[in-house]
Amino acid sequence: MFSNLTPESNQRPGNDPIFALSEEARSKIANGERVIDATLGCLFDDRGQLLVVNAWDQVAAEIHPSMVAGYAPISGVQKFNHAIIEDTFSDFQHLKQISVSSATPGGTGAVTSSIVNFLEPGETLVSPHLYWGPYSTISSLNGRRLLTYQTFTPDLNFNLEGLEQAVHKTSKENKRVLTVINSPCNNPTGYSLSPSEWDGVGDILSNASNTARNSLIIDLAYFKFGPKNNHWLSVVEKICDDVQVLIAWSGSKSFTRYGARVGGIIALNRDAGSREKLKRAFSYSSRGTWSNCNHMGQFIATKLITDDRYKKQVNIERNAIIDLLQDRVDVFNVQAQKYNLVYPRYEGGFFVTVFCKDPQDVAKRMRDKNVYLIPVKDGVRVGLCSVASKDIPELVEVLNNSL
Ligand SMILES: Cc1ncc(COP(=O)(O)O)c(C=O)c1O
Repeated sequence: MFSNLTPESNQRPGNDPIFALSEEARSKIANGERVIDATLGCLFDDRGQLLVVNAWDQVAAEIHPSMVAGYAPISGVQKFNHAIIEDTFSDFQHLKQISVSSATPGGTGAVTSSIVNFLEPGETLVSPHLYWGPYSTISSLNGRRLLTYQTFTPDLNFNLEGLEQAVHKTSKENKRVLTVINSPCNNPTGYSLSPSEWDGVGDILSNASNTARNSLIIDLAYFKFGPKNNHWLSVVEKICDDVQVLIAWSGSKSFTRYGARVGGIIALNRDAGSREKLKRAFSYSSRGTWSNCNHMGQFIATKLITDDRYKKQVNIERNAIIDLLQDRVDVFNVQAQKYNLVYPRYEGGFFVTVFCKDPQDVAKRMRDKNVYLIPVKDGVRVGLCSVASKDIPELVEVLNNSL
């Protein structure tokens, strides 16, 4: 029988390449082969076990089924909505007062909600050319365009000029522009914007708001793992009257609960009437896509953010994970510099991208030596989140020999 799929749906690629390579690595491991697997974006300990924040399970054990078995409100449990605002803005009380939020399935849902609510079909999401793949999938699935600019300058700083040109061009062509910045600990590059680069982003978007309605989505998927610097929040405070600032908050990495699908979108607006409209828009698009979100996940995340006892425990557990990851980052930096590998400033986080020619070939040569990582544009992404420190020198050596 002929397929009734639409022409576009009929042409979809199969398994996501990251998950396909990860499955290949895991099946070799299951067959007893020794493999260094740096494919997935999940934290594993040095013995290859998934790392988990146990406080999550302690709260789960105390929940009576009747508390979470029903549907959560479509825009999320109210306490959860407040909790993620609290978690994001730390001491910036003023930003908390002008924020509204809505639950989404992970940060992915928040990115989707931003794209469908702040761009009309045919309008454009502006992103660095090294970006998290679903930005493009979500845009194309919803009839929105993606325009990219070169991510780095030749000396490997964030390319503010590229951003400015892309935003300027799009602001002249469209009524609305949505810009995405994934920092700190960008996926795939590992890069965290410096305070002066954040200032630059703020100035560019504020200026462009004279020409078109500019929105900024800050993808905070890895923000608990980045350098301890809140300057980006001062920039948000400065631009939020000119630019619609949106935050994609995710519990996947910060609570190591990727499968719980807990996330939220936060939007800032000083006007209470506009905040109400934002809330309704988020609720409507939720209803028309995933409906309500995970009730139990929202309950647990709320407790972990707001209850002092659990808050303390999460901090202790998360700090231990951050230390483990930082050790890997430090080992990587020493080894990579030994071979003069080319990669952006890498201060922390799950991944780093090493630049190279023919990334597919490099990754293939590495796979032949049982070292798995992900080829991306202009380089290969190394997921240090899943590689023990003791294996990093070997990984870097194989990488260097495969270039
Ligand atoms: C850059 C980036 N943004 C957002 C997400 C969304 O994650 P989740 O939907 O699991 O919260 C991820 C996950 O890998 C990511 O890497």
